[in-house]
Amino acid sequence: MCGIIGIIGRDDVAQRLVDGLKRLEYRGYDSAGVATVHDGMIDRRRAEGKLVNLVKELEEAPLPGTTGIAHTRWATHGAPTTSNAHPHATKDVALVHNGIIENFKPLREELEARGRTFDSQTDTEVVAHLVSELVEQGASPREAVEKVLPRLHGAFALAILFRSHPDMLIGARLGSPLVVGYGDGETYLGSDALALAPLTQRIAYLEEGDWVIVTKDGAEIFDKDNVPVERPVTISGVTGELISKGNHRHYMLKEIYEQPVVVAQTLKSYLQRMEDRVSLPVPDFDLSAIRRVTIVACGTSFYAGMVAKYWFEQFARVPVDIDVASEFRYRAPVMEDEGLMIVISQSGETADTLAALRHARVEGQKIAAVVNVPTSSMAREADLLLPTHAGPEIGVASTKAFTCQLAVLAAFAANLARAKGRLDEKAEKELVRHLAEAPAALNAALAYDESIESMAHLVAGARDVLYLGRGPDYPLALEGALKLKEISYIHAEGYAAGEMKHGPIALIDDQVPVIVLAPSGPLFEKTVSNMQEVQARGGKVVLISDYDGVAAAGEGCIATITMPKVHPLIAPMVYAVPVQLLAYHVAVAKGTDVDQPRNLAKSVTVE
Ligand code: F6R
Repeated sequence: MCGIIGIIGRDDVAQRLVDGLKRLEYRGYDSAGVATVHDGMIDRRRAEGKLVNLVKELEEAPLPGTTGIAHTRWATHGAPTTSNAHPHATKDVALVHNGIIENFKPLREELEARGRTFDSQTDTEVVAHLVSELVEQGASPREAVEKVLPRLHGAFALAILFRSHPDMLIGARLGSPLVVGYGDGETYLGSDALALAPLTQRIAYLEEGDWVIVTKDGAEIFDKDNVPVERPVTISGVTGELISKGNHRHYMLKEIYEQPVVVAQTLKSYLQRMEDRVSLPVPDFDLSAIRRVTIVACGTSFYAGMVAKYWFEQFARVPVDIDVASEFRYRAPVMEDEGLMIVISQSGETADTLAALRHARVEGQKIAAVVNVPTSSMAREADLLLPTHAGPEIGVASTKAFTCQLAVLAAFAANLARAKGRLDEKAEKELVRHLAEAPAALNAALAYDESIESMAHLVAGARDVLYLGRGPDYPLALEGALKLKEISYIHAEGYAAGEMKHGPIALIDDQVPVIVLAPSGPLFEKTVSNMQEVQARGGKVVLISDYDGVAAAGEGCIATITMPKVHPLIAPMVYAVPVQLLAYHVAVAKGTDVDQPRNLAKSVTVE
């Protein structure tokens, strides 16, 4: 998604703005730009495509100025061209924007009727004109912004620069995050703490509807009613080291390798190992009355929710509905009293999931949020925050956030089961012991990295790939297919193995690799039967199972990947590793941009 950085500095800021944009690259973007005020004018450089193009522009025509704003844009309204790139500017005002101005059409018509001309197809440019118009009529920047903000519908974070006030920026937040960073004689705006990490760790998070006047001496924050407010300055845990690639070639690989540690870190908050009991970070949150669970999420987080449905129903015997967030509100879902909605999100900002959360709140549901960014909108709006402790996830393809979500959801399902009287002490202890085995098992799974790398060529040349699994490993098949398609651009689909004979088996021929996830356990025999149906039709199977499974069913497969033998409860976490590594090595073999795949954004803050 788009990224924002603004600096009121002691010296020229263009270089540092570009460095900030580099830290925002992970969010996904297709054009970028920077603007400063110097010599009594607003000046900007913008470029289509990757940041190197903007850097080249700046080398050819350097941009002086000690106050500036910069942006990476993920196109929504208007193609990713230079003229649509931010900052958008008039003679007096330049601004950058994340999110969407939903009522931009009537605003644009109104402005055009007053004779204003537009240079872009974006929704953003109307805001520049609205503010500029008032400034031209003699309003101060503060008066202009105060008047314009209530006219904007939608979701936005804004950073605005004024020709007449080169020592000031104004920021605003509604539905899209914005933070203020406090430095030494400098002040910053950023779309997240990551953008500001090397500049400062002293961060204030704006609340919904807040806007802020930033000068080099600090910030004056106002709420949606223009009343001055204080927002606490926190010390962000995001350091330069946390967002470096370390010795790894890609962030994605680094994050895959972090899983044993971050899952252990996450489980620590949910397991009491002394007593072998599960617990919640908010111990007095009463779950006993919950009669129904609704899970809503997108993409990989949705697949974590699909796995969790098995656990909630199996352990707590509570019915679970699950929906992708973009569909949820539009099917008039029935939500009963004593219902709990669980939203799952790495970023905590995904627009569809956030909208579903708000819808469920209106419908009287309690809200639990499994999120990785504890300062995110979902984290703030939930009744029960269930953090994952995966640390910043930079690779666009989600990996460590997924396994941490599974760890939290398994522990949460056990908590709900206990609160409902469905889990006796012995069963709870056993469950905790199995969960506690996950970090070591993840570590053991990583040991197969090289053998997965050496078989990646079997998949890299394919046009289509199928993934099969049953039970809680069926969502893993979906996740495997998503990982492969998003970073290697190979068409891939995941199916419940038993569904093959109802249609998809028609796709099988010797050109389509079929990845079968079949850990030993109650569904092993059935999965293997489905796999043999595929083989009988010439299908080329890659079997991912444990030693016993590979020994029993590996014959006739084009390759096998041997996993450690684990309890079925943690199998979805452990089997996430080979599907992630396979997608990663196939993408590397194909030479795609692993960390920033085409067309994708890390945090999708538009519906
Ligand atoms: C896939 C991926 C996406 C996200 C989805 C939801 O690798 O990263 O499918 O899982 O966009 O994002 P969050 O979890 O931030 O709500």
